Amino acid sequence: MRAVDIIMKKRNGEELNESEINFLIDGFTKGSIENYQMSAFTMAVYFKGMTDLESTYLTKAMLNSGDVLDLSRIDGIKVDKHSTGGVGDKTSLVIAPLVASLGIKFAKMSGRGLGHTGGTLDKLESIPGYNINLSEEKFIDQVNSIGIALVGQTALLAPADKKLYALRDVTATVDSIPLIASSIMSKKLASGADAICLDVKVGSGAFMKNVEDATRLANLMVEIGKNCGKKMTAILTNMDEPLGFAVGNSLEVVEAINTLNGNGPKDFMELCLELSAYLVLDAGVCETIEEAKALCIKQIENKEALASLAKLVEAQGGDASFVYDVSKFAKAKYTIDVKALKDGYVGFINALEIGNAAMLLGAGRARLTDNIDHSVGIVLNKKVGSLVKKGDVIATIHSNKEDNSKEIDMLSNAYCIQNDKVESKLILKVVK
Ligand code: URA
Repeated sequence: MRAVDIIMKKRNGEELNESEINFLIDGFTKGSIENYQMSAFTMAVYFKGMTDLESTYLTKAMLNSGDVLDLSRIDGIKVDKHSTGGVGDKTSLVIAPLVASLGIKFAKMSGRGLGHTGGTLDKLESIPGYNINLSEEKFIDQVNSIGIALVGQTALLAPADKKLYALRDVTATVDSIPLIASSIMSKKLASGADAICLDVKVGSGAFMKNVEDATRLANLMVEIGKNCGKKMTAILTNMDEPLGFAVGNSLEVVEAINTLNGNGPKDFMELCLELSAYLVLDAGVCETIEEAKALCIKQIENKEALASLAKLVEAQGGDASFVYDVSKFAKAKYTIDVKALKDGYVGFINALEIGNAAMLLGAGRARLTDNIDHSVGIVLNKKVGSLVKKGDVIATIHSNKEDNSKEIDMLSNAYCIQNDKVESKLILKVVK
């Protein structure tokens, strides 16, 4: 077999078989297939697409390129969730402890934030002492003893995806539906859960800009997961404005804790309950989604979900007193209000621009090696549908820099203020 023939076959729009895909991924992982050939291959996939079967083969090849976690030592059903990446998306910090508080095992490996999107690990590290690096042994023991662990992905999990993603990033081939689906699913399947709930973001702040493409991505990931014996749900959600109010690491952790105390932003709470309820349903704890949602609400009201977060923080070496006293989180030196430039209704908030402004403040990284500042970020004061008057505060910047003029401009431009009121819908579709 030769890589050039496989590339040509894909370039000509033909379907590849399993051994051809295995040959490519195996060779690429071991270094016998060069970056330039793999770049040509990903570009051919970008233009010609892949069938569902090819995407499943690609997922399995990347999944088998490294370690596959064996969670069979954990008793009961294990669940996991994944978001395709958004701005202000701190759902894991609520969903994981909430679902775990119902006795469902939540064994999650997360990533770091890159570019305009934040990462769960960076958010958790706003809590002093929180250790994201657990050995596989400790990870499994912790899930068995307290029902939850939230750690970093090991370098040995789907290494082919890691290498391929880095190549896609610099060859304009990230936004290909089969490549995104196989990238996400290879990592999710390698981390061993039985039921997976995917949050597929749609809109300005997401990879998928419209519902049609997001539906294709969701259907494909659900299909791949089911083909591998998993219980799958994908929920399409709006990313035409950031989720909740807070964007930035400590600010988001505080918002997640407030939500577990029953005081979360309406949209954020709605999404957390929806995603949690599907995991509860797929874990077989109840029969209907309504029943599952009612159970989740109860766990917030009785503070069991909050207690579960405190247990997680403590087990991973963090200072759990932060969970009960959010005034302890580090604060940025300056707060700067950004004001509305005219009267009207907020029609749209460019989430990508807000994410980029947060990154510029130091809340995110342009490259994986960049350091981040946990205390900085942005708190939105007005969301889509809000009525504003010229001069009203629309958002507040939390910064450690003296000059924030660029970020102020970015935030002003991110807000579209118009004459007509629009209703924003958060949950667009459920794919099972
Ligand atoms: N997230 C991933 O893990 N992979 C992609 O290709 C896109 C988003």
